Amino acid sequence: MPDERLAGLRPGRDTTGQATRPVAPSPVWRPFCSPERLAEVPSTNLALAERAKEGAPEGTVLLAESQSAGRGRLGRRWLDPPGGSILCSLLFRPRLPLEEWFLAPMAVSLAARAACEQVAGAETACKWPNDLVSLPDGLKLAGVLAETVGETPGSAPRALVVGIGLNCNWPADFPPAGLEGDELATRATSLDRLTGRPVDKSALEAALLSEVARRWHPLAEAGLAPGKAALLSEYRAACATLGQQVRVELPTGAVEGEALAIEEDGRLRVATEVGEATFGVGDVVHLRPKGAPPGR
Ligand code: BTN
Repeated sequence: MPDERLAGLRPGRDTTGQATRPVAPSPVWRPFCSPERLAEVPSTNLALAERAKEGAPEGTVLLAESQSAGRGRLGRRWLDPPGGSILCSLLFRPRLPLEEWFLAPMAVSLAARAACEQVAGAETACKWPNDLVSLPDGLKLAGVLAETVGETPGSAPRALVVGIGLNCNWPADFPPAGLEGDELATRATSLDRLTGRPVDKSALEAALLSEVARRWHPLAEAGLAPGKAALLSEYRAACATLGQQVRVELPTGAVEGEALAIEEDGRLRVATEVGEATFGVGDVVHLRPKGAPPGR
């Protein structure tokens, strides 16, 4: 990867205006702006986790044309037609308490939403926790998977890999028939199917990365409070889950109720028959998406 951190090196001047020896400038490393492009990998998340262990800096990005073992949330597989999706992993080294790291995948899903609007004119919403769905029918356009890196037993994680799969231009025969493909076909779509025209994937990638950088920069540079407030307020406004009747599917069973709020810690608060409960993980099914028939 080109090292842009030295790009601002220039001769300095002392207080008398005399030229001095070149000094190291303040770094101009621009995180998330120089993606490395790969043809095929098992998983961009796995590949980036390896780079993270070798010391890759925050802002390192891997993009792949296809994955042979794409990873989804909750141990699922992520299928893609070669060349038809954005398959992207971004490296974060948050200087934030671990309980605030959820802000990174939140920033990525909001960035994807902004990029879809800018480049494809597509109207989308966030579905808790970090899916992007089409409006008004609630079909999945993108999924986000955040994985911590660098744990050793008893020590804290040192980095966070956030991967996003964004369905762009899907061939007519995708997803393939079969159990996983059939399920995908009923609950997912791609931007070209949504808008009726092919999407410019390069423009979408560029917009995605610059929108991530724009959202993460305040959190990385200006401290937690203002950056977090802005991100949470954008997320709450963009979240189609709020106000819906939902089913939260957990390893231990399912809970139904009305989605009331996104808490300050990113958890979903739901009013159930037996009182209010909050959830940090789980799959959410929207039982009655706003203005649309039931869907995921
Ligand atoms: C989900 O289950 O909704 C999350 C899917 C995340 C898929 C992306 S594709 C790029 C990155 N690499 C992976 O192996 N997974 C993520």
